[in-house]
Amino acid sequence: MEEYRPLRTYGRIKARTLKPRQAGLMETLLPHLALPEGEGPLDLDTLFEVPEKGLSSLAPRPVAPVAKGLVLEIGFGGGEHLVAQAAAHPSTRFIGVEPFLNGVASCLRHVEEANVANVRIHNGDARDVVARLPDASLDLCYILFPDPWPKARHHKRRLIQPEFLGELARVLKPGAEMRFATDWANYAEWTLEHVSRDARFAWLAERAEDWRNPWPGHVTTRYEAKKLGDCAPIWLRFVRA
Ligand SMILES: C[S@@+](CC[C@H](N)C(=O)[O-])C[C@H]1O[C@@H](n2cnc3c(N)ncnc32)[C@H](O)[C@@H]1O
Repeated sequence: MEEYRPLRTYGRIKARTLKPRQAGLMETLLPHLALPEGEGPLDLDTLFEVPEKGLSSLAPRPVAPVAKGLVLEIGFGGGEHLVAQAAAHPSTRFIGVEPFLNGVASCLRHVEEANVANVRIHNGDARDVVARLPDASLDLCYILFPDPWPKARHHKRRLIQPEFLGELARVLKPGAEMRFATDWANYAEWTLEHVSRDARFAWLAERAEDWRNPWPGHVTTRYEAKKLGDCAPIWLRFVRA
């Protein structure tokens, strides 16, 4: 595995003290959904097994999903989008990654409320998770409203960097999609510029409506609703050649 220790791409990793219910879910539910510790390659089949004893206290829950694709969401925030997609696609496996502890706790609440069995979570850096994925294992990757780092001197902290795109190209299956959204015009340009330099990706847009409108089935994210950027959301779909 290629070793590069990139700059931190995220802000805070913890804010307010967790509410008792969320703190409880961190103790009881997260251990069942968390990726195994370590740096070794992930065994995706084992990861999505529902352990006989493990989840019994959380019953009733659906059984482990029949594998119909693997989706990664990088920086899921509060997990609303991740869990809504997982509920809408119960046969698909979802891995969500988020370094912000309060976001993970919020996501666990959504997992419990939606009673979905097809979500696994890593509280940490997505680059560590991607490094552990087998080649050509992902069917879809969402990067929705990543930290914009708008100041030029902070652009090096953006998640989209040549090395990381290279790693994403490695783990996406041929024909798989990377879906990226931002409401910062410069980050959209940055992403288009960087992705266009990597021949393994092709931008799917044919007309302006393709990047002005979200893809079918999109679920509005919390950050998107805040409209903190400097433009309307820009929706970029790239296919792995
Ligand atoms: C602006 S927020 C958007 C959250 C969510 N996608 C939404 O649209 O509501 C960006 C999120 O990406 C997370 N993030 C930043 N760098 C990350 C990384 N390297 N791996 C995983 N998540 C990351 C941040 O912690 C933050 O929650």
